[in-house]
Amino acid sequence: MFDYCSQEFDNNFLLHCFSECNNMQNDYLLDEFSSVLFDFTKVYKKRVYEFISGYLTCMQLSRLFIDYIADLDIEVSSNKVLDSLEEGELKLDKIIRSRICKPFKNETVNLLGFGLASGEYEIKLANYILSQQYCKHIKIFGYDPFVQTDNNQINYITLADFNKKQIPKFDIILSRWSLHHVQACERWMPLLSLVNHVNLNAHIFIVEEGPFLLNDISNNRRITLLFQVLEDAFVNYILFPRWCCSNNYYIEYLSENDIERIESNLSFEYAKNSISLPGNEGTQIINYYNTR
Ligand SMILES: C[S@@+](CC[C@H](N)C(=O)[O-])C[C@H]1O[C@@H](n2cnc3c(N)ncnc32)[C@H](O)[C@@H]1O
Repeated sequence: MFDYCSQEFDNNFLLHCFSECNNMQNDYLLDEFSSVLFDFTKVYKKRVYEFISGYLTCMQLSRLFIDYIADLDIEVSSNKVLDSLEEGELKLDKIIRSRICKPFKNETVNLLGFGLASGEYEIKLANYILSQQYCKHIKIFGYDPFVQTDNNQINYITLADFNKKQIPKFDIILSRWSLHHVQACERWMPLLSLVNHVNLNAHIFIVEEGPFLLNDISNNRRITLLFQVLEDAFVNYILFPRWCCSNNYYIEYLSENDIERIESNLSFEYAKNSISLPGNEGTQIINYYNTR
């Protein structure tokens, strides 16, 4: 095993590992993130070694990093961060639209965002579906215990509501980048209760990032993971600071086993496609289910 403690663990070393492990373009997000990251790795050199060697979890490292950024009081533009993420978002949107490409049977379509935050994407997709005349009306439902908006286009629901109220069956469910932020002990029940409440011919998208390749515990994989987990924390700190700085922030990536676990509890027949997000094969996957 490569001994990281004997390496001069400086910025150049990190940059070298970064360029080997990542194919991100040079851009605003990367520039802002790397400058904070390099200083962090100097201050917390020992903790970073521990993470790479597998002695520290993603959550422990994230907490340290978030507290570190909060103390720096940095000024990073959330709009520019969103611009940096746009290319990936467009690729994802294209894949989602390619599946929702014909009219629905019902006049009203019920769309649920799981962990949707302010639901910007859900609203955008709903507008697109209406513009294509795939249905007459869309109701957007949202399930997110920690980030919400007062936008009246979204009906936020809780699980208690869900059990009490007559919530119509869903035709589209989107869970984008949220499951790896749900604590392991409550990762399955809420999602499955909602996902199992669907109409025939519904479209379900579980968009996730993860190590997925469970057996690959090599050092290179841990370094990639270091960047992935800290970039995740950095982006969430900029876009959702209240949630990110609270005790509710959680992160642990999904494995293949987790996806199998979801599937073994689905109460309907389905056709499935797993689609890798171009440019991020192996770490970013869209699991698409069409109910039968
Ligand atoms: C990275 S953000 C993704 C937001 C949005 N889906 C998007 O694509 O922009 C992760 C979201 O997961 C939500 N989340 C955290 N814990 C959750 C839980 N237990 N159940 C559902 N959502 C949760 C957070 O509040 C946050 O809005």
